[in-house]
Amino acid sequence: MDFRQGPVEGVAMKSAFWSGKTVLVTGHTGFKGGWLSLWLQRLGAEVVGYALPPGTEPSLFEKADVARNMTSLFGDIRDLPQLQTVLERHRPQVVFHLAAQALVRQSYDAPVDTYASNVMGTVNLLESVRHTPSVRVCQVITSDKCYENREWDYPYREVDRLGGRDPYSSSKACAELVAAAYRDSFFAGAGAPSLATVRAGNVIGGGDWSQDRLIPDCIRALARNEPVIARNPAAVRPWQHVLEPLSGYLWLAARQWQEPGRFAGAWNFGPAASDAIPVGALLDQVVAAWGGGSWRPLADSAGEPHEAGLLKLDISKAAARLGWRPTYTVAQAVEQTVAWYRQARQASVDDIRAVCHRQIDDYVAAAQRWGASWAQP
Ligand SMILES: NC(=O)c1ccc[n+]([C@@H]2O[C@H](COP(=O)([O-])OP(=O)(O)OC[C@H]3O[C@@H](n4cnc5c(N)ncnc54)[C@H](O)[C@@H]3O)[C@@H](O)[C@H]2O)c1
Repeated sequence: MDFRQGPVEGVAMKSAFWSGKTVLVTGHTGFKGGWLSLWLQRLGAEVVGYALPPGTEPSLFEKADVARNMTSLFGDIRDLPQLQTVLERHRPQVVFHLAAQALVRQSYDAPVDTYASNVMGTVNLLESVRHTPSVRVCQVITSDKCYENREWDYPYREVDRLGGRDPYSSSKACAELVAAAYRDSFFAGAGAPSLATVRAGNVIGGGDWSQDRLIPDCIRALARNEPVIARNPAAVRPWQHVLEPLSGYLWLAARQWQEPGRFAGAWNFGPAASDAIPVGALLDQVVAAWGGGSWRPLADSAGEPHEAGLLKLDISKAAARLGWRPTYTVAQAVEQTVAWYRQARQASVDDIRAVCHRQIDDYVAAAQRWGASWAQP
């Protein structure tokens, strides 16, 4: 397949498409939302962010001063009137909904909050979009964990059954169902916004300081010269650099803008099949990239909550219909991630912003080299 073919070559990442567009990003104080906001700022978009204040210390939001070139609003997606007011006031044309309680382990401790944010938060967002005529494109960011995990060796496709054993995964499956009902009930007619749901893999990259996530836990241990403890070293996950799914979201949004009906629906944005590897293999690469340190399995995993053993994502649909495919191998994703944490240590806010911008530019240049349609100048 020639990925360079396409009627709207390159517009997704060119300022020509994004410049001056008002884009609402919920969850801009988080890891992925922070990177997406920085990328959109670089493309000239008028970015409006809506989220709770950053939940970690440190955070990408503060370290890179994500709020510098955008309108940053603190608020709760469980608060429908406030959310509605934000959309009425700012009249976004494109909406990326990332705000969520995003941690599996926390969902065991706080299931009610997890469902409230992830399910009713999505209802509130879609309800607000429904009453905001300026919105032409909306994406609800769910997860690879929205699929009912059958411990299959083969990857999940967009048509596979939704499910989830833990509250986080099931809340993301619920968010998918909510989005499907809104699409069929309210967003199906001519002139209605194009609504897509997007399911990324396990995302790694600089600037994530969440608790109980592999890379942040790993970087904290390595920085203290302690061994990294792996709870589930044999578990296979679809690892990818944070800029990979974000490139997919941006490109999909541009295509939704042009052909709203054709590009509505569900989309997987995962790594190449060979990059769904066990936790232990990923840790070997992180330790090697760090240039020292070690990892070992958790000594006693009895009493640990259930975690799926095998999870892979099929990206044939995105490849065939969007010409999207990953740019980095998992090894390159690890290199970029470790380099970010190393460069950001002790660095000033301006330097950290520069590291982020350089990593975005390097990623786009690498995508241009393989001929990604979205990256062509
Ligand atoms: N990181 C991953 O590997 C991964 C993989 C697949 C999907 N996702 C999804 O991508 C999205 C972003 O994930 P992330 O890794 O950046 O998570 P994160 O925890 O770093 O950020 C979550 C964001 O949501 C906001 N938020 C949470 N509850 C809120 C509420 N009630 N009201 C307003 N804002 C609220 C937080 O303030 C933060 O800005 C989430 O929807 C997550 O489920 C993440």
